[in-house]
Amino acid sequence: MTTKTRTVVVTGSAAGIGQHIAADFARSGARLVLADVQPVDETLTLVQAAGAEAHHVHCDITDEGSVRSFGERVAEICGGSLDVLVNNAGINGEAQLVQDMPLASWQRTIATNLTGTMLVTRELIPLLAADGGGQIVNIASNVARRGLPYRADYVASKWALLGLTQTLALELVEDGIRVNAVCPGPVEVDRIEKVMQSHAEAEGRPVEDVRREWEAGSPMGRFIEPGEVAAVVSFLASDESSAMTGQALNVTGGQIMT
Ligand SMILES: NC(=O)c1ccc[n+]([C@@H]2O[C@H](COP(=O)([O-])OP(=O)(O)OC[C@H]3O[C@@H](n4cnc5c(N)ncnc54)[C@H](O)[C@@H]3O)[C@@H](O)[C@H]2O)c1
Repeated sequence: MTTKTRTVVVTGSAAGIGQHIAADFARSGARLVLADVQPVDETLTLVQAAGAEAHHVHCDITDEGSVRSFGERVAEICGGSLDVLVNNAGINGEAQLVQDMPLASWQRTIATNLTGTMLVTRELIPLLAADGGGQIVNIASNVARRGLPYRADYVASKWALLGLTQTLALELVEDGIRVNAVCPGPVEVDRIEKVMQSHAEAEGRPVEDVRREWEAGSPMGRFIEPGEVAAVVSFLASDESSAMTGQALNVTGGQIMT
């Protein structure tokens, strides 16, 4: 019996968590579509080393025209039927209090993390529905479950992403499309250093202080490894989670328990 090769789209797969998610799917034998505004050479090398077929398709998720062309290219690659969409692309925003926040900063973060995710999803729903269904996994955050001073734009975008996840889960259930989210705590990737630095500067304290506080915020006393996020994404995209839709799984070392 031959099993069909799954086609998986991962947005924001040039670096960080998205790169690990793509590598995890590659090891399971999937065909990867790597979507990013940046070159994805490093991820392509990783994915191809695992023996998987991979395509880089440039996509700026904040630009409706770019997302439309992206959708057309994905349709060609997957032959009209897509299996998995991982909405991972996102930006941090600058660390600043609401009282100091320029409108443009707020709008940039919402346009990427929330509106961009909606645009990509809207474009790819027909491909996910084409062959009886598929899976969508949205990468939210532990701050989709709580507040965090200096990060209102980012926090609001991630809370809203869970609202989008639950609504899509209801809208798409009859198409056989399951929609779930992952809420990671701070993950050990290059970007987290920049995020902590930006907090340290805004709050006027050493960056080591920020790291210590964030590590202590988790009962496990540590940050999350990107592979630990990728493993939960793979689970949500597999038949092992066939009874789950509209859910958000915390990968936070116990920091968030609801
Ligand atoms: N790193 C963490 O601690 C952490 C914790 C919780 C959630 N997250 C979430 O995980 C996801 C990945 O984060 P990361 O830490 O790996 O970040 P990262 O900056 O390393 O990777 C994000 C990727 O998204 C891409 N991207 C940004 N804007 C884009 C756009 N308009 N169109 C297409 N691609 C775009 C970037 O080029 C980059 O490759 C994000 O959604 C982030 O909010 C990260």
